[in-house]
Amino acid sequence: MIKKTVVLGVTGGIAAYKACEIASRLVKLGIEVNVIMTKSAQEFVRPLVFQSLTNRPVATDMFKAPLSWDIEHISLAKKADLFLIAPATANIIGKIAAGIADDMLSTTVMATKAPVVIAPAMNTAMYKNKIVQKNIKDLSDLGYHFISPGEGRLACGDSGVGKLAEVDIIVDEVIDILSNYPKDYKDKKIIITAGPTREAIDPVRFISNHSSGKMGYSLAEAAAKRGADVTLISGPTYLKPPSSCKTIFVTTTEEMYKEVLNLYDESDIVIKAAAPSDYAAETISVNKIKKTQDDLSIKLKLNKDILKELGRIKNKQILVGFAAETVNELEYGKKKLKEKNLDMICINNVSKDKVGFGHDTNQITIVKESGEEKVFPLITKKELANLILDEIKDLMTES
Ligand code: PMT
Repeated sequence: MIKKTVVLGVTGGIAAYKACEIASRLVKLGIEVNVIMTKSAQEFVRPLVFQSLTNRPVATDMFKAPLSWDIEHISLAKKADLFLIAPATANIIGKIAAGIADDMLSTTVMATKAPVVIAPAMNTAMYKNKIVQKNIKDLSDLGYHFISPGEGRLACGDSGVGKLAEVDIIVDEVIDILSNYPKDYKDKKIIITAGPTREAIDPVRFISNHSSGKMGYSLAEAAAKRGADVTLISGPTYLKPPSSCKTIFVTTTEEMYKEVLNLYDESDIVIKAAAPSDYAAETISVNKIKKTQDDLSIKLKLNKDILKELGRIKNKQILVGFAAETVNELEYGKKKLKEKNLDMICINNVSKDKVGFGHDTNQITIVKESGEEKVFPLITKKELANLILDEIKDLMTES
């Protein structure tokens, strides 16, 4: 992540403790985090916690001796690449909406030109209150970003909407806004496949693999954010389908084949991050196979190779494959690039620590049809997704 500064405003609510995790996660991503706490926030968490997590002084009081010769609220307002308020109470939202600046946080947020992201957290009735909702709408209309609270049991004992959004969601939103990705995929139709496929053996068992879908879903989300018209074709996963693209769910390799082929003609780019099962049972037992013998043989038949077929009938499309290998990854990956008539392949050695199946991180080598090779470091799949899209963009401009 490029060097950026986030000013994190923490207001007084029980969710203030979650702001510690937000601060820590942003710091780990290499972001400088400057925390401003309101008086009531300090009743829930001590400034020392944030000071230790961010390795920066915490601003708490307008009238304390300044930390630098700049007027502090102005200098923080200027420094911010992004201003995040989490948790945000009804009080701070009301103050910002009404233009009231009477403490360190409200004066700084009023003085900033940076994008302001607000993550509300409060009691359900307060959140649904018409004045609060009007304030949120007015601020949204003025360009303030809101991260909707989640639903669940609240600290006050009530159940309903008002819980601070998940830390993951808040951190992702901050990174997205800071990254400020260009809409360089506008008008491009992309098919992205993700996850495993399942081949039934009998009504209760199947053959599959450890793909979680994280790599493919990260690519789909990133491409949609960059303006692409994305169709995600997904095998069974536990992931929430991205709201930014159309998702088609499949179970078997044959079903994935049909869905991909159906959309192939009208697509510009296909990225095959899925791990389709190469084999299926030759016959699927109608009833559950009983444990009547010591060993059991199941005859498997080879499934269609979706990517190979796409390569065979390719006309204008840019075709990107993955290769999941455990040994000789470069050799096998390059062979797949050629045999499947691909424009680019992302090769991962899935026997390495934190690489490939199920992890939030991945490490790949990209090889292009031109012979160009690039080794990428071990990074999150979300970060990697954008780097893969940068490489595909180069292919688009070359063709
Ligand atoms: O889902 P995650 O947990 O995030 O893990 C990510 C991943 C490890 C699944 C991903 O990074 C990855 O490597 N995907 C490809 C997995 C795979 O099937 O690799 P392969 O080397 O067996 O296949 C080569 C290519 O052919 C792949 O693009 C694959 O999608 C495609 N293929 C394979 C078999 C088949 N029957 N049809 C295909 O189209």
